[in-house]
Amino acid sequence: MHTPEILPSVLACDLARLSEEVSALGPDVRTLHFDVMDGRYVPNISFGQPVMRSLRAVWQHDIDVHLMIVDPARYASEFVAAGATSVAFHPEVEDEPLALLRRLRAEGVRVGVGVRPEHPLESVAPFLSEIDVLLLMTVSPGFAGQAFLTEVLPKVTEAYERRTEDGLAYRIQVDGGVTADTIVDAAAAGADWFVAGTSVFAAEDRAGAASALRDAAAGAMRTG
Ligand code: DX5
Ligand code: ZN
Repeated sequence: MHTPEILPSVLACDLARLSEEVSALGPDVRTLHFDVMDGRYVPNISFGQPVMRSLRAVWQHDIDVHLMIVDPARYASEFVAAGATSVAFHPEVEDEPLALLRRLRAEGVRVGVGVRPEHPLESVAPFLSEIDVLLLMTVSPGFAGQAFLTEVLPKVTEAYERRTEDGLAYRIQVDGGVTADTIVDAAAAGADWFVAGTSVFAAEDRAGAASALRDAAAGAMRTG
């Protein structure tokens, strides 16, 4: 239903060379993934609006913002203003998730909710008809470079089947530990939007790594 897309995660790049890092991704990459961490929702702090504005100045295509912060409603619109094209947040730390989804959509971005590895799909059931992106964490949120949690794969399949049953069209995004090997399993389970940090930015040929991941996903993607 969706064509597979690789979203390099800038958390895994050399931030001192942000501009060169993203310009080395090649023409196949249309969307960057931007992880915002507050040291409260996750045990790590990454970067925020100032870095987002710097990135926007050197990147003409889409930027997918992943808010790993408590009280996302307080800051989400600032990332829209800074140039996000999609914004996902974790609804269990938001008092009024539906209102936030609708507000962000009205501001002109695609919207998503994130699900931690240990949380069931059911925890986001009320939002499935309101979102463009279902972000399924395949590592414990907080750090790049962790191993893909294969126990999340049944949830990917459940999301895929439920999307068909409900006649919905959200992208199924997997985030964390995506490599040339794990992307095959994720695609076969039903994912179509693939965040890849370390497996793109640790490669010498970043554009080649992203293209190889995309081809591996395309070859394995579930279609029926
Ligand atoms: C983890 C972040 C991921 C991370 C992915 O909390 O949400 O987006 O940057 O990095 P890799 O691909 O290295 O696991
Ligand atoms: Zn992320």
